[in-house]
Amino acid sequence: MTRGRTPRLLAVLALLALGAGGCARNAPLDTLRPAGPIALEIKRLWDLVFVLAVVVFVIVEGLIVILVLRFRARKGDTTLPKQVHGNTRMEIGWTILPALLLGALAIPTVLTIVSLAREPADALRVNVRAQQWWWRYEYPGTGVVTANELHIPAGRKVLLLLQSKDIIHSWWSPRLAGKQDVVPGWTNHLTIEASEPGTYNGQCVEYCGLSHANMRLKVIAQTPADFQRWLTAQAMPLAEPTSADAMAGKKVFLGQACTGCHTIRGTAAQGDVGPDLTHFASRTAFAGDIFPRTDHNLRLWLTDAPGEKPGSKMPAGVAQLGLSQNDITLLIAFLQGLR
Ligand code: CUA
Repeated sequence: MTRGRTPRLLAVLALLALGAGGCARNAPLDTLRPAGPIALEIKRLWDLVFVLAVVVFVIVEGLIVILVLRFRARKGDTTLPKQVHGNTRMEIGWTILPALLLGALAIPTVLTIVSLAREPADALRVNVRAQQWWWRYEYPGTGVVTANELHIPAGRKVLLLLQSKDIIHSWWSPRLAGKQDVVPGWTNHLTIEASEPGTYNGQCVEYCGLSHANMRLKVIAQTPADFQRWLTAQAMPLAEPTSADAMAGKKVFLGQACTGCHTIRGTAAQGDVGPDLTHFASRTAFAGDIFPRTDHNLRLWLTDAPGEKPGSKMPAGVAQLGLSQNDITLLIAFLQGLR
């Protein structure tokens, strides 16, 4: 008997460890740690549902345990217990009670949905465009277009107008708001707000092909003054390169197929397949926010983009575009200067 208990005990301990692991303090995508009023509203509803679910669980499971213990077969029992079935009163009871409970829960749920769907009048509006596999952000009326890293002012509601260029994606930054599908041919709305400056991670949460998992995002909330400074800087066209390498890199860029897919405002590059690179070096990461913007990562990327990110629309620089490693060195110098 005791020999069989050790593996069972280990299994229970392993489950507990897994459960405790889910409560990690530093989880950056934790919906239960809201960072703004909208996420908090969702969390309040979640708390209510959770408490009710726990109460129901304890009552139902408690009754089951009591019944199992009380009516278990005992030593010396030879006859079957009296067979009963059909108790109309109880059956009606356990049908109506959950229906009432769900009906009651529907009230705060619908109220929350209506409240979240309301479009705030004074919100900052940002046009969001999803495509395989990155996010394009446009600040209407400013000329500012950026990718993957969404800058917002803290303490102000931001209304995202979400459109898709190809298939269904879903925008989600768990500490700021709920999920919102991004559907081709339609504009969906989502309001987000961060109470404090900080960086809030996110991810595309609708399976959208090969690099779905590589379609991340970041929301960078700043003080209103810092945000305004950022916006003003982003509205500027290309800053002319200063170093010889960067200048040569600009020539390589403008002489290559890069211009057909990327925009650098103030140059002939006006493509719209890949991200706007005018202020590329003001972002912390690239390629769907998956690679930190280091020279090393840029070299890997420019050498063989589809090898680094499966399905990438960016061709392999060496094999398909015929870039040399020296070209890539110059391109890196140019790109890293685009602040
Ligand atoms: Cu876009 Cu998954």
